[in-house]
Amino acid sequence: MTDNKEDNLKEFNPNSKFGNLSVPSFNFSSMNWTRREYILGGVLTATLLIMFILAGFLGAAHNKTVPKTCNNARCLEMAAYVAYTMNSSVDPCTDFYQYACGTYSSFKYLEPDHTSRTVMDDVYHRNEDKLRNLLEAPTKRSTEWAAELKLKDLFNSCLDDYLKERRRGRPFIEKILPKMGGWYVLNSWDSNQFDLNSNLKTVQTDLWVAAFWTNSVGFDWKDWDKNVVQLYPAGSGKYMSWSYYTRTDNQKVKDDYKKFMRRLANLIARDSKLNIPDIDSRIEDFVSDAFTMETKLAELYKRSAVNRDRFETSSRITLNDLKINSGNVQFFSLLVIRVDEIGMEEVPHRLDWSHESKGTTYTAVLEHCPNGVIDWVAQMQYEFPNALTKDSSVILYKKDFIFGLGSLVNNLDSGTKNRMLHNYFIWRLLESYATHLSWEYVHANREYYVDIRGQTEFLGTWKYCYQYIDKKMPEALSSLFVRDHFADKNRDKAKEITDYVTKALISEIDDNKFLDSATKKIAKSKLAKTVYKIGYPDFMLSADKLDKIYSSLAINRTDYFQNIMNVNQFEKVHYDNELAGDVDRTKWVYNVYDTSMAVLFYWNEIIVPAGFLQSPLYDYKNPHYANFGSMGSLIGHFMTNMIDERGRYWSEKGKWTPQTWWTNGTKTNYASVKQCVLNYYTNKTQGPYIAPDGTSEMIPIKAKWYARRAISYTTGIKLALKAYRKWESDNGVEPLSPVLGLTNDQMFFVAQAQSYCYNRKNAAAYSNAVRGRVEEDVRTNLAMSQISEFTRAFKCKPGSQMNAPSKCAYY
Ligand SMILES: *[C@@H]1O[C@H](CO)[C@@H](O)[C@H](O)[C@H]1NC(C)=O
Ligand SMILES: *[C@@H]1O[C@H](CO)[C@@H](O)[C@H](O)[C@H]1NC(C)=O
Ligand SMILES: *[C@@H]1O[C@H](CO)[C@@H](O)[C@H](O)[C@H]1NC(C)=O
Ligand SMILES: *[C@@H]1O[C@H](CO)[C@@H](O)[C@H](O)[C@H]1NC(C)=O
Repeated sequence: MTDNKEDNLKEFNPNSKFGNLSVPSFNFSSMNWTRREYILGGVLTATLLIMFILAGFLGAAHNKTVPKTCNNARCLEMAAYVAYTMNSSVDPCTDFYQYACGTYSSFKYLEPDHTSRTVMDDVYHRNEDKLRNLLEAPTKRSTEWAAELKLKDLFNSCLDDYLKERRRGRPFIEKILPKMGGWYVLNSWDSNQFDLNSNLKTVQTDLWVAAFWTNSVGFDWKDWDKNVVQLYPAGSGKYMSWSYYTRTDNQKVKDDYKKFMRRLANLIARDSKLNIPDIDSRIEDFVSDAFTMETKLAELYKRSAVNRDRFETSSRITLNDLKINSGNVQFFSLLVIRVDEIGMEEVPHRLDWSHESKGTTYTAVLEHCPNGVIDWVAQMQYEFPNALTKDSSVILYKKDFIFGLGSLVNNLDSGTKNRMLHNYFIWRLLESYATHLSWEYVHANREYYVDIRGQTEFLGTWKYCYQYIDKKMPEALSSLFVRDHFADKNRDKAKEITDYVTKALISEIDDNKFLDSATKKIAKSKLAKTVYKIGYPDFMLSADKLDKIYSSLAINRTDYFQNIMNVNQFEKVHYDNELAGDVDRTKWVYNVYDTSMAVLFYWNEIIVPAGFLQSPLYDYKNPHYANFGSMGSLIGHFMTNMIDERGRYWSEKGKWTPQTWWTNGTKTNYASVKQCVLNYYTNKTQGPYIAPDGTSEMIPIKAKWYARRAISYTTGIKLALKAYRKWESDNGVEPLSPVLGLTNDQMFFVAQAQSYCYNRKNAAAYSNAVRGRVEEDVRTNLAMSQISEFTRAFKCKPGSQMNAPSKCAYY
């Protein structure tokens, strides 16, 4: 079989546009035949006929080994895509990436606000277009409780400019401000009624806006069956980074930000239709209060250390301890502060130790948290009533910040303290909810963005609303996608590919030279237990199950702002339930329509969402050389990760095992394999790029960092090819691709390279390379040149670029 493939290759000429294809054309009408010529013609025809018949017999005799050409629509479509993307005037043995992807950038343009575009991006955007059509299509299930109706009503309420324009800022004035007891600027707030903890509950939990902290619910790295709350600092403006407040060289950014605050406050004041004589000075107070608070938070942030391993015991504290036991010494932190950066008067409530070094005074400080300023037990139980008690532990990412909040509040000037806190909370709410009001509010945001970034591009309403539902109702959106765009057959066939690749890996493990027998046994057992999430979870097809997920969410087609508030509460309840239960390993961490494939070591899982299983990456109707070449290689790559020098740290149950499950013998053997790859990648460069100073620059690859990745990437391709061979022997040799004149093996490699075609601006590529990223072209070429099956398929001579003189042992 292999020999016959080699025969096909003899005619292959990489320098003609489509390999060996030639289309002769005759002009019959111009032929003026004599009688003799007719006779000769007849003889010729008969001879030709006999030849054809003979050829038929011969063909039949070789049927098993000489594949025919496939001319159905799908093969033609695939061949056209391949032909359109490749540059066949490049020699595949010199630069395979350019051969496979050479024309990609000339027809896949970069959008103005993008610096890069890849085949995966193309698939992602096509999925988005599909979703767009589905969202605009008539609702199929329109009972009041149907998830599909809720999704489309939410989306349409977002798109409804007419209602938003009529209401302007009133939803904020009518639905938010009363919950906060009014607002100083509108003269509707009473300072004596202010209560920090009840305001915090309203802001943080009822209105779902992060003012002092933000939290995430995720699984606990020290107990992987449980979820845990992590608290992070919060309080900076949407487009402000913490350092913008504390730096002194960026007055313009700060001024622009204040302008933005003023702009929104003025709009609300206008829409309240109240006549307040001193409105301007009230707005100035508001801006100053909010900005001052944020600056204080930024200073606190700056002097707070990050907990490197935030799942360590020292990063955990029970809510009760957090609330009252600030004397818990274990929890005191040692900060080293340069006194000339922060004046001592600004850091009261501290035990100090200081010393001088090179003219700078350094001070170590211990932070006190004044008792009960923030009632953490009440706050967190209000947010997570089902899940948390006073004895529940939370994880602090920057514990100094969380601890410092109490003293920050205590140290505010008592005369303006309440007003400052309240104004700050209103600003957090206003900045967060303004984008859900009329265009003037949305554009106030945008103007600010133009001020600071000079960037005028705007998402547009559709994209904006799409991004919102993408974040908030992903299951409903996924279900739409799956039901209309993804056949069960696609999922089943994708599973089949996975099975073939798994078997190829298992057999490679059997033959492997550097894994010893004990390691092989565990590796195989781990692979047998690896969970594959492919396509979509079954519940996506059940309308009832989907409706149940959203049963507590009320959506009103004509009340967008209320919808936002409802969605926020829905999200809050969702997190509470998630925290109260065990970690759900059946959960999909990616949306079904995402174009990502991933390996999750901690669940011993490989996930390939339906969004990825799209042409040209995969489609069960596509020829299998393409499916194995692109998707199969990636699956092989991730499977290799499960057992490689990274995967060895995780057990088959997904538990982190620092001593690893590789034996010492395997570790020793592997060292020489790794060294071989390291040697090959060392001193390789990528580029040339135009550096910022205008010179042309080749950038060395960070071989030490990349070697492990190179091994799994290269192994993935080898596995997929092996799997494809097995598939061929089980299912018969596939007919050849039309038009291109390439063998199936060649098509396999072209498909593999073509899943990584990209178009990238020089600046982006340059900064990638400087950061150590090995760009797709270099990655492809270096891997292929190490694969002897590749060298054979394209007949790359010894000494050619794509035929490495020595090939390392891979898995
Ligand atoms: C294809 O490759 C040839 C040879 O390297 C080059 O001259 C030509 O510009 C390439 N075509 C495109 C569209 O990049
Ligand atoms: C939807 O909201 C509008 C206000 O915009 C209200 O008049 C209407 O009663 C609401 N519909 C439902 C079903 O709650
Ligand atoms: C493997 O090597 C480590 C460190 O080199 C050593 O501590 C350990 O005892 C060895 N294990 C076995 C089973 O030899
Ligand atoms: C890389 O280049 C340096 C300097 O030219 C040379 O000394 C070294 O041996 C090379 N390393 C490999 C692995 O080729």
